[in-house]
Amino acid sequence: MTSIFCVLRATVTAFVVLAGIIVLFLMYHKSFPSLKCHPSPAHLRRLAKQANLRITPLVTKQPSRPAVTHHTDKPVVLLWFWPEDKKFDLQDCKTLFKIDSCHLTDDRSFYSRAHGVLVFHRAIRDDLSNLPTSPRARFQRWIWFNMDSPTNTRRISGIKGLFNLTLSYRKDADIHVRWRLALKKNTDEDFVLPRKERLLCWIVDSADLDTKSTERFSYYRELVKHIEVDVFNSSSVEFSQGVNYFLTISSCKFYLSFEDSLHRDYITETFNGPLVAGTVPIVLGPPRRNYEDFAPGASFIHVNDFPDAATLAEFLLTLDKDNRAYMRYFNWRRFFTARRHLTEENREFAHAICQACHHIGTSKAYRVVPDLYKWLLQ
Ligand SMILES: *[C@@H]1O[C@H](CO)[C@@H](O)[C@H](O)[C@H]1NC(C)=O
Repeated sequence: MTSIFCVLRATVTAFVVLAGIIVLFLMYHKSFPSLKCHPSPAHLRRLAKQANLRITPLVTKQPSRPAVTHHTDKPVVLLWFWPEDKKFDLQDCKTLFKIDSCHLTDDRSFYSRAHGVLVFHRAIRDDLSNLPTSPRARFQRWIWFNMDSPTNTRRISGIKGLFNLTLSYRKDADIHVRWRLALKKNTDEDFVLPRKERLLCWIVDSADLDTKSTERFSYYRELVKHIEVDVFNSSSVEFSQGVNYFLTISSCKFYLSFEDSLHRDYITETFNGPLVAGTVPIVLGPPRRNYEDFAPGASFIHVNDFPDAATLAEFLLTLDKDNRAYMRYFNWRRFFTARRHLTEENREFAHAICQACHHIGTSKAYRVVPDLYKWLLQ
């Protein structure tokens, strides 16, 4: 009995050991070759590219600051003041302009690690007491954010040597903000003139019409003696919210794109509006050749093309009767498109702020602006 039991035990043991060896061998055989064949990252990337996939690297750098995990690779741009308290969703840069090259924030606790600090000029106190006080990091650049013309720019002594970059409508600013015409990709699309119900229009704060004496109002008062102008009050709800803005302009054959002050490059949305809407802008601002830096010469009518307002009015009335001549003002549309600017009040500064984000995310140049006002006034 004992010997049979012994033989049986030995057999079972041998069987178990053999099975173990077989399992081990199979495991080794299965895992080893696959280890050897593990594709290189480059190969993976190539495969992913073929399959149109995005690959996240296996080894991710441990973020040093958990609060900003997904932003560590992007420079931080700190919006020091909300301009005129007009707050918008900072994600708009990504959704509206496809700008995603910086981590944009209004959280001042990011100050010490901000690569760019965006400072809205109008909000700076005369004694500079609301500017950052702690020393700035070597990599940090302060951006002077001012979309106003020199006429409307308050002089603050003491900000002369503070800034590294300028953000302005000026062509020679470090960050040049403007709604530009874009080259058209598809040139055989035909332009259809919107339905016109009015001859000449202007959206303006109507409280200023009879009181202000700047160029645009004196010219307007001269013009209405010779031609009818439909004036829409810009401070009414329908315009301050941006509703009906493009719609109203498109219902007019001509639109008064009169700037509030006359300075080089100071050509604002009041010019872009009619270009977008399919209306001919009548411009008052810098000289014609300056407009031609930004738009084709045959896309607008300049008040200085005429000796006086009476002659301009006469010309507009003849164009009103000559459709072929009128339509020539839209020939540029075969090659360019104008982009709708944002008209919602709270998004007034979104375009500029997003441009700053784009700039800091893509350019690292070292710079100091020695004298802001000298630059602005030249
Ligand atoms: C920014 O300007 C300040 C003040 O002029 C200067 O001290 C600093 O070195 C500049 N920094 C950069 C990164 O350009």
